[in-house]
Amino acid sequence: MSLTAFAYQQCISPSCGARYGIEEVRVVCDQCGDLLDVKYDWDRAHPPKTLTTFEQMWTKRHEPCRFSGVWRFHALLPFAEIEDIVTVGEGQTLLQQADSVAPYVGVNAGSLFLQYEGMNPSGSFKDNGMTAAFTHARAIGAKRAACASTGNTSASLAMYCAVTRHMKAVIFIGSGKISFGKLSQALDYGALTVQITGDFDDAMARVREVSRDLGIYLVNSVNPFRLEGQKTIMFRVLEALRWEVPDWIVVPGGNLGNSSAFGKAFAELLELGLIDRIPRLAVINATGANTLFELYENRGLRWNQGVADQGISDDYFRELDISQRKASTLASAIEINRPVNLRKCLRALETCDGVVRQVTDQEIIDAKAQVGAGGIGCEPASAASVAGARKLRDEGMIQPADRVVCILTGHQLKDPDATVAYHTTDQDRFDQVLGKRGVKRASFANRAVAVPNDLDEIIKAIQLYS
Ligand code: F0G
Repeated sequence: MSLTAFAYQQCISPSCGARYGIEEVRVVCDQCGDLLDVKYDWDRAHPPKTLTTFEQMWTKRHEPCRFSGVWRFHALLPFAEIEDIVTVGEGQTLLQQADSVAPYVGVNAGSLFLQYEGMNPSGSFKDNGMTAAFTHARAIGAKRAACASTGNTSASLAMYCAVTRHMKAVIFIGSGKISFGKLSQALDYGALTVQITGDFDDAMARVREVSRDLGIYLVNSVNPFRLEGQKTIMFRVLEALRWEVPDWIVVPGGNLGNSSAFGKAFAELLELGLIDRIPRLAVINATGANTLFELYENRGLRWNQGVADQGISDDYFRELDISQRKASTLASAIEINRPVNLRKCLRALETCDGVVRQVTDQEIIDAKAQVGAGGIGCEPASAASVAGARKLRDEGMIQPADRVVCILTGHQLKDPDATVAYHTTDQDRFDQVLGKRGVKRASFANRAVAVPNDLDEIIKAIQLYS
């Protein structure tokens, strides 16, 4: 058997706690409809006694399962046997000490770190989770996999299908809702691409029905195996900090898979005695897609040890229905009003003494320009983390000497339209892409210089501007 005997699935609701076998395919609890966790009987799984043990994996980089930045931490997500792992070499990502961006955030030199998850093979953090979902899917013999997506999950799913040939991809996207960088990946990799009229929330609702009716393996982050893989982003952050826990983890919030996975990662590390404290978690929404902010910060919704006041969220979603309000932000990756992992995220916020903030599209696109100017770059949604850190610093919540890690979830080239529109001198292009979102200024624009095709003029321009 390729799945391990000491792993199981369990409903996250403490009052239910129903258990399911690790080989079962489900995304909600049969008994109560709540979300599921992958859990381990740690006494039988024998995790390492110290985090430094993982450093030995670096000497085994010739083995694909140790080369992977996800699976070198296999001992902390041991639901499948190591020989049965599906990997394409994901998780070779970088934690950069970003001294050139630190002044923008308002923290001391040496305090700001950017975790570049855009360096994954499909260009976003999704590969961390997809490798885990694929490992489970292959173990249970799935032949087709589906997702709804704002573009990165679909690119990742399509890539894993194309590379491994284990499954065929069916992806659901809202029409006109996905950036060309991401759409082009899904098309190139050969996924069946279903463009439905509507947005991500509509596509998500449909794909859940379709996968249930047709028995297609669902790889959205409502799949608990996805989140096991995404825990390793935090393991790599700790590894890069020589196993020292930072003060803050700041992450954009969309469907709330990352924030949920990070909370689980830290809860488990603490339970296993591998860390002695948990960093604070800040989840950053875009103002045009701010369900978590509204529920957590304005309406006081809390996990409350598993007895969250469901009425608060039910009322809010009813209001959304009645007003027909749709999510709207230029950070299309997080243009989501109905996050499927809401309850897990509330739990993570409790575990990590978390806060939630919202940032405008102006703040997002300015922060993105700062990240780009600092090197490597990111897509708009990712920059919400940096904009959020700046806001928390302004408020005095983050202190200048705090060690702050912002997660850059997607590659800069995922959404070149937004970048070019920011730096352009063409007002129409600016208005079309950014102005209609309420962006008024491009304070950090690096404008191209137009010169006639004439050697003297070119030399003059270079001398003038350099
Ligand atoms: N950043 C990027 C670049 C994303 O693509 C996403 C989600 C998020 C942040 C939000 O992460 O859901 O864990 O809170 N993208 C999904 C997709 C929804 O379909 O690609 P989350």
